[in-house]
Amino acid sequence: MKEQLEAIRSAALDSIAGTKAAADLEALRVKYLGKKGELTAVLKQMGSLSAELRPVMGQMANDVRAAVETAIESQSAILAQKALEAKLEAETVDVTIPGKHQEVGHKHPMYTVLDEIKEIFLNMGFEIMDGPEIEQADYNFTKLNTPDDHPAREWSDTFYLDEESKTLLRTQTSPMQIRAMETYGVPIRMISPGRVYRKDEVDATHSPMFHQIEGLVVDKGITMADLKGTLNAVIREIYGPNTVTRFRPHHFPFTEPSCEVDIQCHKCGGVGCPTCKGEGWIEVLGAGMVHPKVLRNCGIDPEEYSGFAFGMGLERLAMGQFKISDLRLIFENDIRFLSQF
Ligand code: PHE
Repeated sequence: MKEQLEAIRSAALDSIAGTKAAADLEALRVKYLGKKGELTAVLKQMGSLSAELRPVMGQMANDVRAAVETAIESQSAILAQKALEAKLEAETVDVTIPGKHQEVGHKHPMYTVLDEIKEIFLNMGFEIMDGPEIEQADYNFTKLNTPDDHPAREWSDTFYLDEESKTLLRTQTSPMQIRAMETYGVPIRMISPGRVYRKDEVDATHSPMFHQIEGLVVDKGITMADLKGTLNAVIREIYGPNTVTRFRPHHFPFTEPSCEVDIQCHKCGGVGCPTCKGEGWIEVLGAGMVHPKVLRNCGIDPEEYSGFAFGMGLERLAMGQFKISDLRLIFENDIRFLSQF
């Protein structure tokens, strides 16, 4: 039996050292140590040994088993290391292959302009408010003192969302005047930028969706002088300190008096050119003193409080600032266009 055990040990250790794959190693483990393995077969013969020999052979068999197990373990580690080395060898990186270019995006030019404008108003102590694009006709028109027969209420001009003309896509940001006063009361100083919708055909200067920035200031003793002073200051921040402005009488249902504000064409200095369509002036916003009825509609006493409001088109501002000639370019999101800014 001793010779048998010696033979198993040396045969096992030899073949284990010669294995090249983990599967071969496992096969050897079964061959020698498994239930039907060679070592087990020898152990089964132990019963026939004498009482003195049995523990000696038992000890020897255990030594053989331990030696085979250790050999399998260390060979397994060697094979794993070799497999890793082979894998690393096969997966070497070719640093000369050109990499994949990552495109990094940036802010849309219109939002660059919007952020500048927000900054100007924040510095003047205004708050920024956000409001719903799906609006009630009450807020978009009625509370803004717009008569029932006003042409802006026509189905041909406004996207209504129900048969009774109660809800609509807001046609202006002015309903935010009402919402702001109802929610926060007076005194108030806010701007509210956002999308507005009108049934316009798309062309170089029209789009059924565009952006406005609404502004509202209400307090005791606010006058037309505050309106002019504030808007002149804002316009000079946006268009430069030497910009010449013109306040032209106009009509809006929710302001009285109302005006439109033009800037003298910065391209031609007022002589007339393609940029100002020969006018010498470019319209930049609508404004006026908040109508007493609008204040009353919001539960504010017009004898005590007064205010001014204004609304400007964001696309037009961005087009002027970046010399963009066609409104459609702003919305098409053509990367060749946008990457210029
Ligand atoms: N909401 C008006 C428009 O869309 C602009 C405006 C706002 C006029 C506030 C006066 C006061 O034309």
